[in-house]
Formats: sequence, structure tokens, C-alpha cells
Amino acid sequence: MRTILVLNPKGGCGKSTLATNIAGYFAQQGKRVALADCDSQGSSSDWLKARPERLAKIDCAVIKDGELRIGKTTEILVMDSPASVHDQKLVNIIRPAQTVVIPVLPSPLDMRAAERFLHELISLRNKIGRKVKIATVANRVREDTLAAVKLEYYLEKLKLPDGNRIPFMTALRASQNYIQAAENGMTIFELAPSKTYYDREQWSPLLRWLNSSRSIP
Ligand SMILES: Nc1ncnc2c1ncn2[C@@H]1O[C@H](COP(=O)(O)OP(=O)(O)OP(=O)(O)O)[C@@H](O)[C@H]1O
Ligand SMILES: [Mg+2]
Repeated sequence: MRTILVLNPKGGCGKSTLATNIAGYFAQQGKRVALADCDSQGSSSDWLKARPERLAKIDCAVIKDGELRIGKTTEILVMDSPASVHDQKLVNIIRPAQTVVIPVLPSPLDMRAAERFLHELISLRNKIGRKVKIATVANRVREDTLAAVKLEYYLEKLKLPDGNRIPFMTALRASQNYIQAAENGMTIFELAPSKTYYDREQWSPLLRWLNSSRSIP
């Protein structure tokens, strides 16, 4: 089973938005997808409840007593994570993941917090006991702003303490399409192509990576 975790302890950076869109994308591709909402806020679970029956089905992965319960036929597990997750809780959340996608907002505070978090992630690597592939995504980017340019430059240069680069996948613009899709249990891939052409283009490097062996340890 393929396991993809969307993670960043910074609140509101787009974890649930990315997790639901990734889950919906793979479901639309005909994969058997389960979405695990590890956040007690329940954004992803609410999204699943609002999802229209006519759209590609996504299972709800249940977490009971800290254990993930997933249907045996699940091909792809997408995990949404809570804000402010650190230490042992962070280790528990990462343990099942092969691939970690980290959304970052274009603000100096968020960028610094993301770097601190990456350092924490690497220092926990031994405890995690398995390899993970990590990539960053810039989210809610207002194009042609200095903040957007700075964030992209920053993410492109970002390195782990061991000197390895962290791949920066793409920048997703701030768009009402995400808000409209989220309200209706949908993804941007299920809204009109003419309206979401630009967003789909921005997603394509991330989806190529997730579909390739480069994102699997
Ligand atoms: N690219 C985007 N364009 C416009 N709005 C966005 C975008 N990404 C996220 N949002 C909106 O920003 C808000 C926060 O996003 P989201 O809930 O995905 O963040 P989160 O990291 O899951 O937050 P939390 O840490 O509280 O779980 C939501 O209202 C969401 O609809
Ligand atoms: Mg969330």
C-alpha cells in the first residue's frame, strides 16, 4: 500500500486542502483510496461527509486507540495531520508514511517554522525506523508578489542538516477554487477544467512526483 502524509505543525498552511485534493485525485484515477484524518478538528472527515455520492469513492480510515484501521483492499492511504504535532506524537504519525508532503505559506514566520520543523523531522529519523521521502509545496501563493518569489527561492535552496536538498515540488496559487471545492466535498480536479486549468497545471509536478518511484523510499 502507498502511504502519503501531509504534514506541517504550522496551523492553516493547507494540510487538509492538500490531503483531500491528493486523495480525490487518486480516487478519480480509479485507485482504491482511504483518507485518514489524524486531526481531531476533523476537517478531512467533514470533507468526506460532504462528498457527493456520484464522485469517485474515498474510504474513511479509522484511527482507534492510536491504531490505523484500513480496508485490506486500500491501494493508497492519504493522511491529514493536525497542527502543533511534535515529539512522540509526530513519530507515531510519520511511522506509516512513505511520502511526506509539506505545505508552506509565503510568510517569513511560516518559512522559519518550516525549517525548524524539518530539523526536528531529521533528528527523529532514527526513532521513525524507516526511510521517508519528503518534499515541500508552496501554498496560497499570490503570484507576482515579493513574498511569493522569496518563498520559492527559499524552498528551492532548502537543505536538510545532512546537506541533502529537499525537493520543492510546486507553488499553488491562492484561489477560490480550493475553497469552493472544499465546501462541497470536492477537489479542484472535479471542478470545471476551464475554471481550474491553471491550478491543474500547478499540481502537475507534485502529481508526477507522487506517481513516480522518486517519492517512494
Ligand atoms: N491555495 C489555496 N487558496 C485559497 N485558499 C486556500 C488554499 N489552501 C488552503 N486554503 C484555505 O485556507 C484555510 C486553511 O487551509 P487548511 O484547512 O487546508 O489548512 P490546515 O493546514 O489543514 O489547517 P490546520 O492546521 O488548522 O489543520 C482553509 O480555509 C482553506 O480552504
Ligand atoms: Mg487541517
